[in-house]
Amino acid sequence: MRKPIIIGNWKMNTNLSDAVVLTTDIKNHIGSLDIDVVLCPPSIYIYPVAEIVDRGPKNLEVGAQNIWFAEKGAMTGEISATMLKGLAKYVILGHSERRSHFAESDTLVNDKIQTALKNNLTPIVCVGEIKKMTESKNRGRPTKIDLRSDIFTQLKNTLKNINRIDAEKLIIAYEPVWAIGTGNAATGAYASDVIEKLRDIIAKKYNKSLSERIRILYGGSVDSENVREYIYQPEIDGVLVGGSSLKSKEFIRICKEAAGRE
Ligand code: PGA
Repeated sequence: MRKPIIIGNWKMNTNLSDAVVLTTDIKNHIGSLDIDVVLCPPSIYIYPVAEIVDRGPKNLEVGAQNIWFAEKGAMTGEISATMLKGLAKYVILGHSERRSHFAESDTLVNDKIQTALKNNLTPIVCVGEIKKMTESKNRGRPTKIDLRSDIFTQLKNTLKNINRIDAEKLIIAYEPVWAIGTGNAATGAYASDVIEKLRDIIAKKYNKSLSERIRILYGGSVDSENVREYIYQPEIDGVLVGGSSLKSKEFIRICKEAAGRE
């Protein structure tokens, strides 16, 4: 049984006091829920957020939004996996904003995954197609999933040279780029169809049982109103939330819905 996980990606938002208030609110409300919750603040606020999370419930953890693949050196503005030791347990890698604004390739994402794993960070690996695979009016429910889509290539490239034991530690987030920050969320059925195909790729590369154990999330315009659509799909193990993770009430509602408590 895969435990649901809800991840808040704050992106380049909040200031120090927002970060403290948001974390404290969330910490005080999610302890009794049977789900995992991860907060991914901007790197400058990881330390204060981690201090609050440390005093919080066991199901709350901190994640980084990015790392560089080397462990130290001349890389102005970057942070390394070793710097996160004792502060964060997760790291988002391959987010579409990193891929598009910072030209991150699958190879770079793969290098970062290897470094994260070496440093005991759980990679949350994002994959997603830029364009909708269908012209269907039904909020992106494809008549047929195109197996040549970028999503599947991204996943295959991302898993290059990652052995079975390490693959077991990954979390995959399916985030269609057209759904991120647009209010145009994919339907649960669409996300579920794609995630099923992602599991097939994992089963083919490793084995069926691993593909059934690995957690795969949906992300893209998730809010407290539509989260149920994903959470009750057996293929989907949680959500990666951007905009709606910045308001504590909204994010707590998402967590409660995911735990079946709202
Ligand atoms: P959104 O972002 O929820 O604001 O669409 C999701 C993400 O980019 O992870």
